[in-house]
Amino acid sequence: MPESSLPQSPAFQALSAHHVQAAQWHIAELMAADPQRAQRMSIEAAGVFLDYSKNCLTAETLNLLIDLATERGVIAQRQRMFGGERINRTEQRAVLHTALRAPPGTALMLDGEDVGMAVQAVLAQMRAFCARVHSGAWRGATGQRVTDVVNIGIGGSFLGPKMAVHALRPLAQPQLRCHFVSNVDACALQALLPQLDPATTLFIIASKTFTTAETMCNAHSARDWLVARLGAAAPAQHFVAVSTNHEGVAAFGIDVANMFGFWDWVGGRYSVWSAVGLVLMLAVGADAFDAFLAGAHAMDTHFCSAPLERNMPVILAAIGIWQRNFFGYGSLSIAPYWQDLEYLPGYLQQLDMESNGKQVATDGTALPVRSAPVIWGDVGTNGQHAYFQLLHQGTDVVPVDFITVLRPPQGADVHHTALLANCFAQSAALMRGKSADAVRAELQGQGMAEETIAALVAHKSFVGNRPSNTIVLPDMTPHALGALIALYEHKVFVQGVIWGINSFDQWGVELGKALARDVEAALGAAPGAPLDATLDASTAALVARARQAAGTALPSS
Ligand code: F6P
Repeated sequence: MPESSLPQSPAFQALSAHHVQAAQWHIAELMAADPQRAQRMSIEAAGVFLDYSKNCLTAETLNLLIDLATERGVIAQRQRMFGGERINRTEQRAVLHTALRAPPGTALMLDGEDVGMAVQAVLAQMRAFCARVHSGAWRGATGQRVTDVVNIGIGGSFLGPKMAVHALRPLAQPQLRCHFVSNVDACALQALLPQLDPATTLFIIASKTFTTAETMCNAHSARDWLVARLGAAAPAQHFVAVSTNHEGVAAFGIDVANMFGFWDWVGGRYSVWSAVGLVLMLAVGADAFDAFLAGAHAMDTHFCSAPLERNMPVILAAIGIWQRNFFGYGSLSIAPYWQDLEYLPGYLQQLDMESNGKQVATDGTALPVRSAPVIWGDVGTNGQHAYFQLLHQGTDVVPVDFITVLRPPQGADVHHTALLANCFAQSAALMRGKSADAVRAELQGQGMAEETIAALVAHKSFVGNRPSNTIVLPDMTPHALGALIALYEHKVFVQGVIWGINSFDQWGVELGKALARDVEAALGAAPGAPLDATLDASTAALVARARQAAGTALPSS
């Protein structure tokens, strides 16, 4: 079946017909009509609990969505991914991030290499290195132990490690501070370097390709900073690399003995489980890193074995398809009610939008339906005092994934009760809304004049019927975090299969990178030099303005 035939598929057609009725439903009424709804529409897997009962759907809706997933070949494609087939066809690559968290002894051959053994070998190298750093056996150029680790990387070589290091903050080794530099903007590095002692700082240059412009620019500046303070030989004891590019690492001047490798079958945004997680292992220790992998593996096992209708990633994906393709909702807000998950929305943004932000199906035809929504969000309760106004009363319906943790952080019980109360109350408020009659009765109860009430009722009413999921972790452990991240990875995978997308390439980021090189060359040309004729009038004028402001040729890399 060509990918473009999605709207003609029997399940999609059945869902379209079903949506005509669903558009008349109100989630609060569905909830009130079925006392068992919350039980029926919740599921627990790998220690993660998902309540999806506050969505505008019934058991019949879910059955139809599962029919769609089945029809689109989710089961066969899942097998292909886990089996190491080259499902990333535009890059001719296997997609095996799941092998990174498979237990030791899991055999999988790819191109004559035992992937399981290769993974375990790098993990062993990472563990040995972390042990040396933690024990103080690894010394800097002046003989001092490491106190600060700076991860220089961007995209998948940054977002996952930063998110996870923050999420697991209470487990952090007290003697080691971890920092992240990603942006090519000099402010990022300049704000950090003065806080560091070069003699006790270790830089991890994390880049799958070891060619990414931002990372290489920051890596060179960091090395210059170190060399200026400790001498030309110092980088050997202060720089390690995480990459698939041996030549690039060696050319930069890092001994490949201090390089932690991974493979082209690990996508950048799926790489936190690989050596890209080195900074995480340094921060929380090897045992916690193992537990993080084990949590993800537990979710993998669930994803591979549970029937689709009781399969958490499939259910989450199906609900997203329902919202995106039938209700037409254009974004999904991620609302972690757990401060240490503050970087989760940004992480999920790359995972989802770089994977499924595509307009072409795997067979090269134009997608006939809308693909990935915009993913955005911030921690609760902060968001409540900012954009939740729009979530409750805006003209666009924005589904929300509420994510929280039951066990309070140590010594924070009063705060935590308030946090949970807000999390649960927000999803209830979004669903229920508040009728004009209820507003009127409330204002009358306050003794307000009828004229004032009439002027206020519309403003203070809420239609409700705004969908959300609530994901609850028992405790913020490495295991729970691993399972949560794997849940979203598989959700994105299932949606990609339903849409017929290659979720594992990212050609859309290339055009801007190439143009940036041209524009950088134009900015770096001598004052008065003619402007690149290929630049459009707007871009040329911006370049001219920047050159004029500098008064001289801008330095370029
Ligand atoms: O430009 C996008 C991207 O290729 C992401 O997919 C990737 O995570 C990021 O850049 C960083 O790439 P690298 O790890 O090769 O530096």
